[in-house]
Amino acid sequence: MKLTLTKPFILRCFLISLFLSLPFLFLHLFSPQQQQQPQHSHSTTKDLTIRPGYTSYETYIQRQLNKTLNPRLRKIWTTRDWNRKIPVFARFFEDLKDKSLLQNTSKALCIGARVGQEVEALRRVGVVDSVGIDLVPYPPLVVKGDFHHQPFGDETFDFEFSNVFDHALYPQRFVAEIERTLKPDGVCVLHVALSRRADKYSANDLYSVQPLVELFNKSVLVHVRTVDGFGLDTEVAFRKKHKLQTSR
Ligand SMILES: C[S@@+](CC[C@H](N)C(=O)[O-])C[C@H]1O[C@@H](n2cnc3c(N)ncnc32)[C@H](O)[C@@H]1O
Ligand SMILES: *[C@@H]1O[C@H](CO)[C@@H](O)[C@H](O)[C@H]1NC(C)=O
Ligand SMILES: *[C@@H]1O[C@H](CO)[C@@H](O)[C@H](O)[C@H]1NC(C)=O
Ligand SMILES: *[C@@H]1O[C@H](CO)[C@@H](O)[C@H](O)[C@H]1NC(C)=O
Repeated sequence: MKLTLTKPFILRCFLISLFLSLPFLFLHLFSPQQQQQPQHSHSTTKDLTIRPGYTSYETYIQRQLNKTLNPRLRKIWTTRDWNRKIPVFARFFEDLKDKSLLQNTSKALCIGARVGQEVEALRRVGVVDSVGIDLVPYPPLVVKGDFHHQPFGDETFDFEFSNVFDHALYPQRFVAEIERTLKPDGVCVLHVALSRRADKYSANDLYSVQPLVELFNKSVLVHVRTVDGFGLDTEVAFRKKHKLQTSR
């Protein structure tokens, strides 16, 4: 008697509660995934995009060389631009020394240094062991080298500076090469354009610091500030971790 009364009752309670919980179950299963996944890929891919139109690595290099080898421009870079830009770079490097991100004794590399104005600035502020790389050499300040395959051994430099991240066709390689050639505790400073588009020779567009934080996965972000650096508006600094240092 008792059993026949309670069984339908329990069954009815179960069915009602199941019915009531369906909307919550549905919300829980579908809504968080649909919101989180696009947000995650948003930060990595949408804030760093590779420009279309480079059919091969060869055409990318040719396009870079077309400007860098231009004799008329090279004349301007080494004369009129020389005295205009070096003091500006020197000021940036003095500020980095004040923040202890750079020392006179640092072994320093400038990536995509063209005729080496930033290398000359480093030497003038006392960082005497400085050199640059570019597709086109300009000795003695700049040696020939592709930043996608730096011509240096692992853990060579204490400090690396570059204002040409936007010229990287393979940003992952650009950063991996910096992290390879930096010593542990070594510092990388980038000047990038976030709020405006860089020039027509750029190979990528960056819209926030977040993609850099994800690419520099052997380093910690140590400093971000706004600068006025020849069309580049943001200075970002990373310090390379020791091998056993954890991610936080
Ligand atoms: C906008 S210029 C910057 C020159 C210099 N840093 C300055 O501020 O005066 C970009 C430079 O990056 C160099 N470059 C482009 N792609 C490169 C690559 N894959 N490896 C090395 N240098 C590269 C170009 O040759 C050019 O000299
Ligand atoms: C580079 O310039 C040369 C001559 O000015 C031109 O023929 C060539 O198509 C250019 N290459 C690229 C990749 O822009
Ligand atoms: C670094 O070098 C500059 C320029 O030669 C010099 O004025 C400065 O005193 C040096 N700083 C240190 C801490 O040795
Ligand atoms: C760090 O990034 C490199 C390439 O950018 C990738 O190959 C590597 O797996 C990443 N490491 C970690 C721990 O995420």
